[in-house]
Amino acid sequence: MMRLDKYLSELGAGTRSQIKQEIKKGQVSVNGTTAKDPGQRIDEEADQVCFQGRLLRYLRYEYYMLHKPAGCVTACRDKVHRTVMDYLDTDRRDLSPVGRLDLDTEGLLLITNDGALAHRLLSPARHVEKTYAAQVEGTLTEEHISLFASGLEIGDEKPTAPARLVITESGPRSEALLTITEGRFHQVKRMFAAVGCTVTYLKRLSMGGLTLDEDLRPGEYRPLKPEELAQLGLCPGPGENGEN
Ligand code: URA
Repeated sequence: MMRLDKYLSELGAGTRSQIKQEIKKGQVSVNGTTAKDPGQRIDEEADQVCFQGRLLRYLRYEYYMLHKPAGCVTACRDKVHRTVMDYLDTDRRDLSPVGRLDLDTEGLLLITNDGALAHRLLSPARHVEKTYAAQVEGTLTEEHISLFASGLEIGDEKPTAPARLVITESGPRSEALLTITEGRFHQVKRMFAAVGCTVTYLKRLSMGGLTLDEDLRPGEYRPLKPEELAQLGLCPGPGENGEN
């Protein structure tokens, strides 16, 4: 149960004061009766709330997979760049990206209002695997595989945790898949820099059992499917977008 004005503001109907005005104007009804009290308690799953004549559908938690394009920042607001949130066609205000990809990094980004899931995926103690495809300037060899596996000094207090490097192309320009279990600032770029390579292209392919849907072009997004929610350890139930 929650207050009517909070419910409407979570769904992007406006600020609490705008919503109060709309209620005053008779623009909100609950189960067919015009609402008068912004503090009226709403059962999010059972009550039928209409705003300006439209029936609202409440999803407690929403989960989206965005194929982040290069050139946008992983933030909710930015004065200079486009943000990842600009790609979502939603009025909902409580969504945010889980973790961060650099301005020039592409790939899988989960966007949700489920703070507990975000916390779980980002918690260093959970060692959630993230796999990146990288193109680098520099020749990657077998030796790099063991260096990455044993942990690298990248200028932090501690060396990096063991990481899995799979070389897919070796030459003056190399390509590789790198799986890490931490989320340090610019971690992948700093790891390659520590072995003398410069990352020229970076794309996240997966995170904690969730894999980027290659049918999504950069800038496109979609709700997570029930099986993807299950992979993240979530059971989609009524009021979550996995049921669609
Ligand atoms: N590591 C990086 O260096 N950049 C990213 O965007 C993600 C991981």
